[in-house]
Amino acid sequence: MITYRRTAIHCQLQKYIYIIFGCDPHGKDGLDRKVWNAFVQHNKEVQPDVIIMGGDLVDFWEISKFNKVPKSRETIFEDIEFAHGLLKELRDACPKARIIYTFGNHCDRLRQYVLENAPLFHGYEKVTLKYMLKLDELGVESIEPKESSVNWNGCSIVLDGVRMGHLKKVSKHSAATVKGLMDDRCISVVQGHVHRLGLFCRTLDDGKVIWGVEAGCLCRLDPEYMDHANWQQGWVDVIDGRPFIYPYINI
Ligand SMILES: [Fe+2]
Repeated sequence: MITYRRTAIHCQLQKYIYIIFGCDPHGKDGLDRKVWNAFVQHNKEVQPDVIIMGGDLVDFWEISKFNKVPKSRETIFEDIEFAHGLLKELRDACPKARIIYTFGNHCDRLRQYVLENAPLFHGYEKVTLKYMLKLDELGVESIEPKESSVNWNGCSIVLDGVRMGHLKKVSKHSAATVKGLMDDRCISVVQGHVHRLGLFCRTLDDGKVIWGVEAGCLCRLDPEYMDHANWQQGWVDVIDGRPFIYPYINI
């Protein structure tokens, strides 16, 4: 089914890029292994041109600013080793794909921690997440906050006319976040960060249609810090600029 669609679009339009966007695994204790395995298997079967890991691959609970119950979650070392392993699984599944990792707010916790506790080390390669995850060795590109920025302001990339990543906006309801982003930016969007699935479309005055998709998450739905998480699991394929949502939903 996927192969047919891919070929048909390629033949009709002579323009083609197949992108798979998955986001928010949230580290060793956050990951839902069933969903992750399905995501990797999907990538393996499709062999996309581009895979976007849309943020919060790590959780970095240990260096977050929230109060925490000691020793109740993974250590920062475990988180880093685990995240490297996840990227390696993706690379092994798709040796030829361009893999792009857009940093989320959780990924930036390391940079924030250095800025706050050891600012003189800020910018030193060996204390960066890119170095610790061995992204160069894995052939993974990264979109990171500007080094000169104190805050995380979102990280994203535009491919095939679609802005994709972990953008700094969260609204309460499904698709409301991408509606806001489309209002701000007037471009089609794939957004991680919100852990919800959603689709919003708008036809512009000139007849062009822009759309926004919220890509769900690859993490568990029962975080200890929430009583009820209005989250949904899944990922998104973007085929020649069109979105196909893959919900991983128990009904
Ligand atoms: Fe997240």
